Amino acid sequence: MKIIVHLLCTILISISCQSQPFAADETLQIPTTASIDRFSVPVSDAVYDTTHPYALVAGGSKGIGFGIAEALAKRHYNLILIARHRDTLDYAKHKLEDEYHVQVTVLVYDLAKEESAAQIAQWCKEKNIALKILCNVAGLGGSNDYPTLPLDSLRYMVALNVESCMSLSLLLQPLLEKNAPAYILNVASMAGFAPIPLKNMYSATKSAVLFFSYSLRYQLKGKHISVSCLCPGPVFTKPEIVQVTKDKLGWIGMKMAMMPHKVGEVAVRKTLKKRMIIVPGTIAKVFSGVLRVLPRRWAAAMYYKLGG
Ligand SMILES: NC(=O)c1ccc[n+]([C@@H]2O[C@H](COP(=O)([O-])OP(=O)(O)OC[C@H]3O[C@@H](n4cnc5c(N)ncnc54)[C@H](OP(=O)(O)O)[C@@H]3O)[C@@H](O)[C@H]2O)c1
Repeated sequence: MKIIVHLLCTILISISCQSQPFAADETLQIPTTASIDRFSVPVSDAVYDTTHPYALVAGGSKGIGFGIAEALAKRHYNLILIARHRDTLDYAKHKLEDEYHVQVTVLVYDLAKEESAAQIAQWCKEKNIALKILCNVAGLGGSNDYPTLPLDSLRYMVALNVESCMSLSLLLQPLLEKNAPAYILNVASMAGFAPIPLKNMYSATKSAVLFFSYSLRYQLKGKHISVSCLCPGPVFTKPEIVQVTKDKLGWIGMKMAMMPHKVGEVAVRKTLKKRMIIVPGTIAKVFSGVLRVLPRRWAAAMYYKLGG
């Protein structure tokens, strides 16, 4: 029995270790704090629909966030999309408004900045936004973080991946409560299920989001706010990820990987059904199932061995 478990773990870990591109996040650039200050001004001053429900997608201009926004627009939610770059936000806004006839408002903020969450919450309150769904999607990672990256970059990652999720959930809770039944969808990663020494901080931030979501679900139960956590495997949000997945994982990686619009659809469907953990795709579900029962000590040791 012990041998079988060992074998299974080794196969699983070799696959998921190579699949670190699943961490599409690998291809994301981690900016230094010096590059943060260029943005943060709300750009839209439209008239806000106070009769129909809104969903706020933090990191909704592209990738998984855009997939989530599209799945919500299909269900007639008005949207507030937040990101740093106005061009991609405007593109997403026009695409969603043209196709789904919902109201889309874009706000330009760097979510890693300490004051962003408070300013966003204040803006929503002033406009009396009927907020029903909060999606904390924005996050980043790299193939090799602690201790290789400078401290500024590591802090930026923690601020974006963990602090922004925590702050928006806290500061927007009163509005969600007012519009209950309501939902929070936090985006973690399969990397949150086990420690990954090469991506120490990334897996640590994603497991923080996962644990935060588990507890928050119980804390908000009485307030009729359901909390879900999306933990995807590889998602093809960028061409580089497709290439890395093909090169490193071959057919198994290509089978496990998903397109962002599919991930968005599964995430929204299951969030509205009040599911706690959402892992899109059958293969990813099997891998994450094994990762979740493995002793963490084994998982970390094997990731370390196989990762060099
Ligand atoms: N792709 C995968 O394989 C994968 C797998 C597991 C988990 N995830 C997680 O899923 C989430 C989305 O990943 P993705 O691949 O869809 O990323 P993506 O394609 O790079 O999209 C990220 C979104 O977040 C926004 N964003 C990034 N940094 C931000 C900041 N500091 N402030 C405000 N907005 C910011 C981006 O817009 P701007 O650049 O304009 O700011 C964009 O809208 C992340 O949390 C990631 O860790 C991804």
